[in-house]
Amino acid sequence: MAEELIIETMDRRPDLADMLWQLDDAWPAFVLQDPMASLYFTRAPHDHPEHALVAYEASAPDVAVARAFSVPFAYGFGGRTALPGDGWDAVIRWAALDRAAGREPNLVSALEITIRPDRRGEGLAAVLLDAMRANVRRLGYEEFVAPVRPSGKPAEPDTPMSEYAHRTRADGLPADPWLRTHVRAGGEIVGVCPRAMVISGSLAEWRTWTGRPFDRTGDVVVPGGLVPVHCSAEHDHAVYVEPGVWVRHRLG
Ligand SMILES: CC(C)(COP(=O)(O)OP(=O)(O)OC[C@H]1O[C@@H](n2cnc3c(N)ncnc32)[C@H](O)[C@@H]1OP(=O)(O)O)[C@@H](O)C(=O)NCCC(=O)NCCS
Repeated sequence: MAEELIIETMDRRPDLADMLWQLDDAWPAFVLQDPMASLYFTRAPHDHPEHALVAYEASAPDVAVARAFSVPFAYGFGGRTALPGDGWDAVIRWAALDRAAGREPNLVSALEITIRPDRRGEGLAAVLLDAMRANVRRLGYEEFVAPVRPSGKPAEPDTPMSEYAHRTRADGLPADPWLRTHVRAGGEIVGVCPRAMVISGSLAEWRTWTGRPFDRTGDVVVPGGLVPVHCSAEHDHAVYVEPGVWVRHRLG
């Protein structure tokens, strides 16, 4: 039987902060190029330690099995009256602006749950999601939102997210495994964020990130991409616009 996971937050265990970065390799290289990512991740253990979680086993206390991140922001302020179409990028930007302005947050967005590749398929995603729900509740919030990145979408890069997100099984639960995990945990699908992450680069950069040739104009399917990358050979750039699915978790 698998060992029980120990899950800590960085406000309680700042000494574990280095373990968070052990899981960077678990992501396709191009995803790590989102410019908003550095705005959050370089500061997360310092600015939001109570929102950074790492999971490990007692028998290997310096080896991360999973991690989770969320970020607090001020919702309802200014034009922020609906969950943003630029989901993941927007909540990071909003949170950074709030922090600079000294604005009090009143809502939390999940940003990421990552299971180490060799530990996937064991049901740990639900364990981490429950830990995130419990942590957000501990911090005094009654709900959080999540710009979810459906895990089965790379198998269907050409399907519109608006169609994919609402596909259900015979039992009424989402067909996508990661969306299903969210809904089973108590989440509700409330919409699509069509531009959750925007990643641009030169054709040479895209070749390095993906191993694909990027030598002609048109859409390019890349490993791990939820949708194809738009490539312009004439202008030497390619742009990936990743859609996500907004899920609301009421904590009750
Ligand atoms: C998405 C992720 C967190 C899911 O974790 P996981 O350990 O693979 O998933 P679990 O074992 O907890 O299973 C969750 C559901 O997915 C299903 N599942 C797991 N692996 C699967 C696979 N290879 N194919 C299809 N379904 C799968 C499980 O059956 C389960 O559904 P069920 O409970 O209805 O049976 C993990 O794959 C991951 O870290 N991916 C990379 C980072 C990422 O994209 N994170 C999410 C965005 S923030």
